[in-house]
Amino acid sequence: MMSIYSSLKKFTCRRSRFNVLEANYIISRNLSGCTTNTGVGTRNIIQPPSCLNSFWESAWNILDNAVSTRGSSTRYVNFATIDSYTNTPEARIVALQHVNRNIDRIDFYADMTSPKVHQIQQNKEGAITLWDPLFFIQSRLSVKVDILHLGDDNCDKDVVKEAWDALPSRIQLCYGANPHPGAQIDDPSNFTKKANIMNFCIFACNVYKMDLVYLDPEDRMRDRRALYLKSENWEGKWLSP
Ligand SMILES: Cc1cc2nc3c(=O)[nH]c(=O)nc-3n(C[C@H](O)[C@H](O)[C@H](O)COP(=O)(O)O)c2cc1C
Repeated sequence: MMSIYSSLKKFTCRRSRFNVLEANYIISRNLSGCTTNTGVGTRNIIQPPSCLNSFWESAWNILDNAVSTRGSSTRYVNFATIDSYTNTPEARIVALQHVNRNIDRIDFYADMTSPKVHQIQQNKEGAITLWDPLFFIQSRLSVKVDILHLGDDNCDKDVVKEAWDALPSRIQLCYGANPHPGAQIDDPSNFTKKANIMNFCIFACNVYKMDLVYLDPEDRMRDRRALYLKSENWEGKWLSP
């Protein structure tokens, strides 16, 4: 029988946009029991979630792999806030940094002077959306965000310092643009970037709702959708997809 690895290699060859790293990523997920593939060829690789629990586990496995697998495209997710002044949604791409399913938390980093910080200070509600093109799963996460930064006496400063120290210096430069991100400038190059830990903050996103959709690549009747609420102990319920 063809091994998981050889069928995955076939899969990645046929779909050249996925690289070897992502093949490893599939293998690690298969080994962790997220999906099973004992069949031959590419068509059997993707299975609809078999139960509410495995669907939920798959979503967290996707998030874990997004941060632990170098080069994973799912690391870049859409993060939406509400602008309280205009009462309109604002969405942008951010890079996931930490995932901790034990406390239902996902972190990314931002510049303290960027507009999204102000939006969260006015309204802690955010939404994170991601699509995993290998497992055909969309995750829509509703989150309440705490912003951790050195200027806040209530936050654990060591956590912020450790996160900052772990960043390469070229990435630290993302935090410290002058004028601040989003400010109008006369010329496109009329700004400076100087790494400044005081500009650095962690968006600690506390997940309280997960809406998952599996879109089957071949059969619409195999599509699946489920909703999970923290207030209901993440038990989950099926929704019409
Ligand atoms: C691939 C990619 C990754 C990004 N990652 C981050 C990030 O991790 N944190 C961040 O604040 N902005 C990130 N950005 C920039 C944001 O999308 C956005 O332009 C910037 O944060 C300003 O957003 P705001 O004006 O809503 O505050 C990223 C952009 C791209 C294209």
